[in-house]
Amino acid sequence: MTDPAPNPHATAEEVKAAYDDPKLANVLYHDWEAGTYDEKWSISYDERCITYATDVFHAVAGEAEQPYPTAMELGSGTGFFLLNLMQGGVIKKGSVTDLSPGMVQVALRNAENLGLDVDGRVADGEAIPYEDNSFDLVVGHAVLHHIPDVQASFREVLRVLKPGGRFVFAGEPTKIGDFYARKLGQLTWWLTTNVTKLGPLSGWRRPQEELDESSRAAALEAVVDIHTFDPKELERWALGAGAVDVKAVTEEFAAALAGWPIRTFEAAVPQEKLTVKWRLFAYHLWLRLSALDKKLLSKVLPRELFYNVMITGTKPGAPVEL
Ligand SMILES: C[S@@+](CC[C@H](N)C(=O)[O-])C[C@H]1O[C@@H](n2cnc3c(N)ncnc32)[C@H](O)[C@@H]1O
Repeated sequence: MTDPAPNPHATAEEVKAAYDDPKLANVLYHDWEAGTYDEKWSISYDERCITYATDVFHAVAGEAEQPYPTAMELGSGTGFFLLNLMQGGVIKKGSVTDLSPGMVQVALRNAENLGLDVDGRVADGEAIPYEDNSFDLVVGHAVLHHIPDVQASFREVLRVLKPGGRFVFAGEPTKIGDFYARKLGQLTWWLTTNVTKLGPLSGWRRPQEELDESSRAAALEAVVDIHTFDPKELERWALGAGAVDVKAVTEEFAAALAGWPIRTFEAAVPQEKLTVKWRLFAYHLWLRLSALDKKLLSKVLPRELFYNVMITGTKPGAPVEL
């Protein structure tokens, strides 16, 4: 069966229908975003993102079993996680999958540009179109919170994993983290878009039609963002699906408290105002706060307070043969 084609220009009727259909909303929203997604989220395929992806992976899964001969990514988007893990030596051969045909197309193009051995399919995380026991590793980044039935998805992940195979999902919002990130984001958006109405600061105001488009995107974003997670509940769901050695780890508290207002501010002002100096300042601040989170705050604060949750576990059976 051939995969459906991308639809980056949804009609008003399709968008209207998507408000009652989270999966359709995900396809429309992500097909629409695919072409500009890497730029919007500062995704790259160089040392910076390779280090980020491999650090996240090792923080929850360790380094023992790598390189994994075969890996599949669920909700790959443009390939940020899987392609950077491949470049970082964690995975040999990869398969990207996503509900959005536009995202699969961009991920395959990115893989080709990087010279990586990757194939791809359009796939729903609740019904993965691969045979049982296909992969040594399944990964995902910022995807579980978009999938209506996360428990069904865990069952599917375990089905397509080989016995002893591992899954790693990272970049998921915690319940408490999402609450303060949203509040900080809303406050920053309100302040920035109102203060820049004042005469002397009007050069910092984005054109009204761009602000309106961002607000429409935010409205659809509210439909595609289905879940926030309690780490313990996520562990229970993975165990309930039959996984073993399950462990959820959280990260980013100080980094998220600063990062969300900064990201929202950057989205609310004209891009040409964001100088290289500003971008370097924001990046280095995030690095310093992430280090504070890792070295100190993660040791003294409860894991539920941190913004990101990641989870790993394995399929019962013989360990992966390398
Ligand atoms: C926030 S993006 C993350 C993309 C990428 N993993 C990253 O970290 O840059 C979430 C991705 O999940 C995909 N997605 C949403 N619902 C899905 C589902 N039911 N099955 C598979 N993918 C899904 C979206 O199309 C989108 O590309």
